[in-house]
Amino acid sequence: MRLILLGPPGAGKGTQAEGIKKEFNIPHISTGDIFRENIKNNTELGKKAQEYMNKGLLVPDELVVDLVKDRLSKDDCKKGFLLDGFPRTIEQAKALDKELEKMNQKLDKAVNIRVSEDVLVERIVGRRICKDCKATYHIKFNPPKKEGICDKCGGELYQRDDDKEETVQNRIKVYNEQTQPLIDYYGKKDLILDINGEQEIKKVLEDIINNLKGE
Ligand code: AP5
Ligand code: MG
Ligand code: ZN
Repeated sequence: MRLILLGPPGAGKGTQAEGIKKEFNIPHISTGDIFRENIKNNTELGKKAQEYMNKGLLVPDELVVDLVKDRLSKDDCKKGFLLDGFPRTIEQAKALDKELEKMNQKLDKAVNIRVSEDVLVERIVGRRICKDCKATYHIKFNPPKKEGICDKCGGELYQRDDDKEETVQNRIKVYNEQTQPLIDYYGKKDLILDINGEQEIKKVLEDIINNLKGE
């Protein structure tokens, strides 16, 4: 299964990716996670990406595209993949098309998680992430058993630097301007699977999996 996940910041892409990757046994590739890992390790790429991410802006296409191409060439992607947070511009989508064509592969679906704007801010501002295994929680909607501690590995939970309310507003604006046009782009290729993201986490996953299996 070759999938991409579309949806605004806070729609639940990372949350749903956990369940989808288990169901179809495919690697979850999040460009945001890759950048955050680079920032943590203080790499050159991390330093460049951080400047943009902290302002809620997109990292320039040329820093993202090669990174994803390289990741897709790894052995574990032969059985499929789940891209989360890429593509995010029409340029990136075209680059992905080209690369898949070279690899003689096709996308199966672009899963579009729909959530209205007023729900997004509350979701993002309440998000907490495990610094060790990156599991995602929400202080109200998906709290850990013990405050501040990851259920899965006991790691410490933290708030992302770009999850402050001012930055979140800008991320939503950037999404509307640069990423939303992809719904049309994949719609024309008849690849969009529309999912109501304003349901319980479990129900959203059920909808995604049932629809993908029904194909
Ligand atoms: P990225 O890390 O991709 O962030 P994003 O797109 O802003 O999306 P989020 O991770 O914030 O949201 P999500 O949809 O994964 O939601 P989640 O599941 O966590 O990108 C970060 C930055 O990196 C970008 O701004 C950009 O600078 C850069 N970047 C990355 N890729 C790039 C690219 N391709 N090109 C250029 N720049 C790039 O859920 C959110 C919260 O809600 C959680 O707390 C969760 O528990 C809760 N929740 C989830 N589902 C539900 C539900 N159904 N009900 C109630 N609560 C829920
Ligand atoms: Mg995410
Ligand atoms: Zn953890």
